[in-house]
Amino acid sequence: MNALELLYRGKAKSAYLTEDQDLLVLKFRDDTSAFDGEIIVQLPEKGAVNNQFNAFIMSKLSENGIPTHYVERLSATDVLVKRLDMIPVECVVRNQAAGSIVRRLGVEEGMAFDPPLFELFLKNDALNDPMVTEHHVEAFGWANRHEMARMYELTLEANTILKGMFDNVGLELVDFKLEFGRFHGEIVLGDEFSPDGCRLWDKSTGEKKDKDRFRQNLGGVLEAYREVAVRLGIVFDT
Ligand code: TMP
Repeated sequence: MNALELLYRGKAKSAYLTEDQDLLVLKFRDDTSAFDGEIIVQLPEKGAVNNQFNAFIMSKLSENGIPTHYVERLSATDVLVKRLDMIPVECVVRNQAAGSIVRRLGVEEGMAFDPPLFELFLKNDALNDPMVTEHHVEAFGWANRHEMARMYELTLEANTILKGMFDNVGLELVDFKLEFGRFHGEIVLGDEFSPDGCRLWDKSTGEKKDKDRFRQNLGGVLEAYREVAVRLGIVFDT
């Protein structure tokens, strides 16, 4: 399947139309943004690392019964996916407190949430991705209540699968963000899962192995992403 016309250029990925109207090619770029796009830099090879990381995770989720847009990886940086009608809401699960919840609610980083906490954010950089509730999602018509219930269910299922998988390789899945869309009437996981959209802490040292290394200027960003991938057994093309 060939990438034809550019459909959409996101902050880290570009989407291209293909000959099949149900399929898109996503190209993972090296651009790395933080603070709602306020800062954007190039991290060499991030696109290739995240594409291959995402392919591994999406396959794992599919095998475990989560419907995803993933079809097949085409190259180091490109993936073929189903074309979803995206819902402009970010579904976040938190197993421990970090990031925005620490600032918003004044809790200590690392505080455990059991059961995990589910939060929703509107995907809108100009408004700084404000937190919304499922009532906003319904009232603004972003998704209906059945779709919202399904997104909640799938996000928590993904948490159970991924938390166990990372735990097995000595990493705590602190939190992550998922985005969903509609494909022929079904709610399907879209976008990506990579260290750009989750927090992973080493279980023994507490060291951060995710995009917080970039946000907090800790250095070694790609080294950390690669280390996580290697622990998971991902073998890179490049
Ligand atoms: P937060 O602590 O900034 O609310 O983010 C929670 C998790 O969701 C964290 O792993 C980062 C991820 N996330 C994104 O990847 N993109 C976003 O726009 C937001 C709001 C969160």
